[in-house]
Amino acid sequence: MYFMGLSMAHWAMGFVIVLLLSGCAASPSVSAAQAGDAERGAQLFAQGRDEAPPCVNCHRVVGGQVGFTIGPGLAGIAERAETRIPGISAQEYLRQSIIEPQRFVVSGYRNIMYPDYSTHLMEQDILDLIAYLLTL
Ligand code: HEC
Repeated sequence: MYFMGLSMAHWAMGFVIVLLLSGCAASPSVSAAQAGDAERGAQLFAQGRDEAPPCVNCHRVVGGQVGFTIGPGLAGIAERAETRIPGISAQEYLRQSIIEPQRFVVSGYRNIMYPDYSTHLMEQDILDLIAYLLTL
């Protein structure tokens, strides 16, 4: 009986340690998923997804280039995004810009951004795009 109690305690300890270890191992990948993968975002930006056109069709990401583009240049958007709508974070602004571009129209531009990204992009795609835009 005494031995059994001891081994139960041992077993319980082992279990707790396994839980702790797996908790530690899992958390970095979870937060990476929530933050988005900027490299994958850059790929989506350049290539689009399914029938949704690539963002690069309308947006430049390098400043100082001349010539016409349909959409505003996105160089420096990481800082500008924060200031666009008072009380809305850069992340939220960028999310809204992608899935509901008609809600806030950048001054000097027309409301002609492709409107259906929300039906073609998965949640992870949007997170990846936001992560990429925040590097610009
Ligand atoms: C058909 C052209 C077109 C495509 C494709 C397009 N956009 Fe746009 N985008 C625009 C236009 C025009 C505006 C300015 C009007 C507005 O605010 O809706 C804009 C605005 C934006 C803004 C706001 C910029 C600012 O200065 O506040 C962001 C961010 C943005 N687009 C990101 C994207 C991303 C990411 C994609 C790809 C998933 C994309 N756009 C695809 C035309 C486009």
